Amino acid sequence: ALAEQAKRVAAEFDFGLDAVNKAVREFIREMNEGLQKEGTELSQIPTYVTAVPNGTEKGLYMAVDLGGTNFRVCSIQLHGNTTFSLTQSKVAIPRELMVAQTAKELFSFLAKQIETFLKTHHGDHYAGHIKRRETGGITKDEEIFNLGFTFSFPVNQVGINKGLLMRWTKGFDIADAVGKDVCALLQEEIDALHLPVRVAALVNDTVGTLMARSYTSPGKTGTLLGAIFGTGTNGAYVEKLDKVTKLTQKKDAGEYDKSTGEMIVNTEWGSFDNSLRTLPNTPYDIELDEKSVNPGIQMFEKRVSGMFLGEILRLALVGLLKDPTFPLFRDENSAQNDVHSTTQIHDTSPIWKQWGIDTSFLSICAGDNSPGHRMIRQTLDKDYAISAVSAEDAEAVRAIAAAIGRRAARLSAVAIAAIVLETGRLESSSKGTATTEKEGIEPPRGEVEPTEDDVIDIGVDGSLVEFYPNFEEHIREALREIEGIGDQGEKRVRIGIAKDGSGVGAALIALVAGRVGVDSG
Ligand code: BG6
Ligand code: GLC
Repeated sequence: ALAEQAKRVAAEFDFGLDAVNKAVREFIREMNEGLQKEGTELSQIPTYVTAVPNGTEKGLYMAVDLGGTNFRVCSIQLHGNTTFSLTQSKVAIPRELMVAQTAKELFSFLAKQIETFLKTHHGDHYAGHIKRRETGGITKDEEIFNLGFTFSFPVNQVGINKGLLMRWTKGFDIADAVGKDVCALLQEEIDALHLPVRVAALVNDTVGTLMARSYTSPGKTGTLLGAIFGTGTNGAYVEKLDKVTKLTQKKDAGEYDKSTGEMIVNTEWGSFDNSLRTLPNTPYDIELDEKSVNPGIQMFEKRVSGMFLGEILRLALVGLLKDPTFPLFRDENSAQNDVHSTTQIHDTSPIWKQWGIDTSFLSICAGDNSPGHRMIRQTLDKDYAISAVSAEDAEAVRAIAAAIGRRAARLSAVAIAAIVLETGRLESSSKGTATTEKEGIEPPRGEVEPTEDDVIDIGVDGSLVEFYPNFEEHIREALREIEGIGDQGEKRVRIGIAKDGSGVGAALIALVAGRVGVDSG
């Protein structure tokens, strides 16, 4: 009986073929709307980056990265042959800084991390700079590090190294920073410590990921999309410049290179369909949103990304536990050969607290297909103070968790498909369907291997896509169901991890910014 009832709960997370296709159409509509005007659900932020790298770029750069699980500082040596070496240090951002009273507290912490990094990894460089300062000398321009600032929040970019914070996401909440130029905030704190560092470029992590992927695996047509499926979720893609009318028709737009006819656009798809025209909406989604720091926004992200999936599962489980008729974690589920006795949920179990279940638990559930679900039971015991769980109970938890993960992947497919379709990438191909059709031969299903020209390259990063078992497989399953993509289109999509890519990406953008001259005022 439990198995049946758990299936019913799992089915609340179904996101079927029709729903997926409807959401893709809505996504494309919002993409176009966002390219034309401000204040739309998909922000479609022009990034002022107008070209992707080709692997030949060279030089030593710095990058810092704020917005994922860790704050990182890195220096990157680009070797110019599609390879690079990276030195990095990471720290978790102290929670109290995420909700600090003033932006200064956060940004001075970041500057101090940069100082420590310089002293540790570029000691000679740093010492030389300090010595020159003390003797009244000036550090030469080429001795100043150009730094790419990966700042993974929605920013209204007004130049390559200037951008005003639109809103915080992913649990950050420092009211004082909203509307301010985050590059200036960081530069101020860097200057207060007299570091030889110039914030040369402001980069979203998705843009960095796109850049890094293009640098390391340059295909004939370049990478189309950089996407993050981590704490948050978002994507940036290569758009035709003349479609970005809200920028091209703006009188006071900052400088950008028009020669490539393209611009990378940061979709901020975390806020896709905030008005819930097409997104699924279970009671658990509703409760999660109501109790979040930003109700009504990032509605797509709240159904897809790592920060939220654990909480959706928790709310579902707590709901079931409060229902006296629902047989979860009750004795009668122990089969006779089950050595366990009565399940105990300790009062201190994190399951009773908001954010108490980590999304890594969903990964464990998805990965444990052993008959007795030993890993799931052990984790419930060790990490969640729920002891003596029966195999049947563990299976019920697994089924619900798997449904939440699968829904997240299918929603991710919506975003990917919409971008592939809107950019018309499937229409341009060298051979395959077009030629075959001309010859009047049906392409053999499943046998046409895409050539390098046909590949639509996508770079991804983030803990969810990295650690959730078969996340990509679930995405692909949904892609095949999408009108206009289908089996043939799905095969042409190549998804590759750009691990820690945004640091490299930020360096690449700092390099380009350095070339065209930076507005450092
Ligand atoms: C990292 C990137 O690898 O992945 C970050 O360097 C990005 O820029 C992060 O924000 C996303 O993953 P997570 O899981 O840390 O949010
Ligand atoms: C959130 C941020 C976005 C970022 C994404 C992934 O959605 O708003 O800027 O790219 O998380 O880190």
